[in-house]
Amino acid sequence: MRLLVTGGAGFIGANFVQHVLATHPEDEVVTFDLLTYAGNLANLEPVMTDPRHRFVRADVADADAVKAVVEGVDAIVHLAAESHVDRSIADATVFLRTNVVGTQVLLDAARRAKVGRFLQVSTDEVYGSLGPTGAFAEEHPLQPNSPYAASKAAADLLVRAAHRTYGLDALITRCSNNYGPYQFPEKLIPLFVTNALADEPLPLYGDGCQVRDWIHVVDHCRALDVVLRRGRAGEIYNVGGGNEHRNIDVARRILATLGKPATLLRHVADRPGHDRRYAIDASKTTRELGWAPREPFAAGIAATIAWYRAHRPWWEAVKSGAYRDYYERTYGARLRAASAEGRP
Ligand code: NAD
Ligand code: DAU
Repeated sequence: MRLLVTGGAGFIGANFVQHVLATHPEDEVVTFDLLTYAGNLANLEPVMTDPRHRFVRADVADADAVKAVVEGVDAIVHLAAESHVDRSIADATVFLRTNVVGTQVLLDAARRAKVGRFLQVSTDEVYGSLGPTGAFAEEHPLQPNSPYAASKAAADLLVRAAHRTYGLDALITRCSNNYGPYQFPEKLIPLFVTNALADEPLPLYGDGCQVRDWIHVVDHCRALDVVLRRGRAGEIYNVGGGNEHRNIDVARRILATLGKPATLLRHVADRPGHDRRYAIDASKTTRELGWAPREPFAAGIAATIAWYRAHRPWWEAVKSGAYRDYYERTYGARLRAASAEGRP
C-alpha cells in the first residue's frame, strides 16, 4: 500500500508512521505535515533515511498542495489537527481552519484522485462527558464540550457526508487519551513528567478527580492499522485502553516513580467546560476486527516516564522559545494565585 499520513510529524502520527514501516515491509509512506508548534521532524528521525518514506511539508487546508500529493495514493490516514483543548479555549480560529476546512479539502482531493480509502482519526471527546458509570459506544450522541471537540465532531460529520453523498470509502476511529514517546509536553502526562524532572510544579486542574481512559500510543497505532486494512467503509470504530484513572492519581504515580515530593502538586483554577469523565466501549472493534489493547497501564506509564527521562534533549528543545510564552499564558496567573492562597 502507498499511504499518505497527515500529521505524521506529531505524536500519534510519528508513532504510526514508524509502526507501519516496521510491520509492513511492502508499504510506502508519504508523511504530510505543516510542522506547526506540535510537529517535529525529530519524531521521525528513525525513518527519515528509509527509502520507503518521504516527507512533505504543507498545509492540509491548501487545496493545491493536497491535490499534488494525493495522486497515486492508495489510502489516506488523516491525523493532522490542532489537538489541544486548552489552546482551543484560548482561540478556536485555527482549529476551524485545520480540523474542519482541512478535512474537507482532503476529502475532496481523495474523491477526485480516486483514493481507495480515507481513515479519519478522531477522538472520544466528540461524545462529551460521562457521569460516574457507563462508557461511550459508537451510537452515543455527539455532545462536544470544547471548541477542539466541536471541530473534530464537525470533521467526523464531513467524513460521513463524503461517504454517503459521493460513496467515498471512508471510516472513522474514535480513541481515548493516548500516552507514550514523542507526546508534546502540553498534554497531562508529558507535561507532568517533564515538570517533575525539572522540579517545577505540576498544575492540576480543579480537584484533580476527572477521569481519563488511558491507552498506550502503540496500541492505538495497532488499532488504526487494522481498521485501515479490515474495517468496513462508512463505519465508526471506538478505540480505548480500558485504563480509567483520576488525574490526581496519575500525577501522584509520576511523582512517586521519579522520587519527587508530593509538594510539587498544585491545585490550580479549573479548565472551563472541563469534561469530568471519559470511558470507551471498544467491544465493536474487538468483535469485528480482533483488536484489543495489550499494554497494561502500570508497565506503559513506567516505560513512558523512563523514555522522557532518557530523552531530556528532546523535551528541553521543545519546551523553549514559543512554548515558554504559551506556558506563561496558560499557567502563570493560575500558579501565582495558587501560591498566594497557599494551596497545595
Ligand atoms: P499532535 O498535536 O501531537 O500532532 C498534530 C500534527 O498535525 C503535528 O505534527 C502538526 O504539525 C500537524 N498539523 C497541524 N496543523 C496542520 C495543518 N494545517 N496541515 C498539516 N499538518 C498539520 O496531535 P496528536 O496527539 O498526535 O493527535 C493526532 C490526531 O489524533 C488528531 O487528529 C487528534 O484529534 C487525534 N487524537 C488524539 C488523541 C490523543 O490522546 N492525543 C486521542 C484521540 C485522537
Ligand atoms: O480523549 C482524547 C483526547 O485526549 C484527544 O482528543 C486530545 O487531542 C488530547 O489532548 C486529550 O484531551 P484531554 O483534554 O483529555 O487531554 P489533556 O492531556 O489536555 O488533559 C488530560 C486531563 O488532565 C484533563 O482532565 C485535564 C487535566 N489537566 C491537563 C493539563 C494539560 C490538568 O489537570 N492539568 C494540566 O496542566
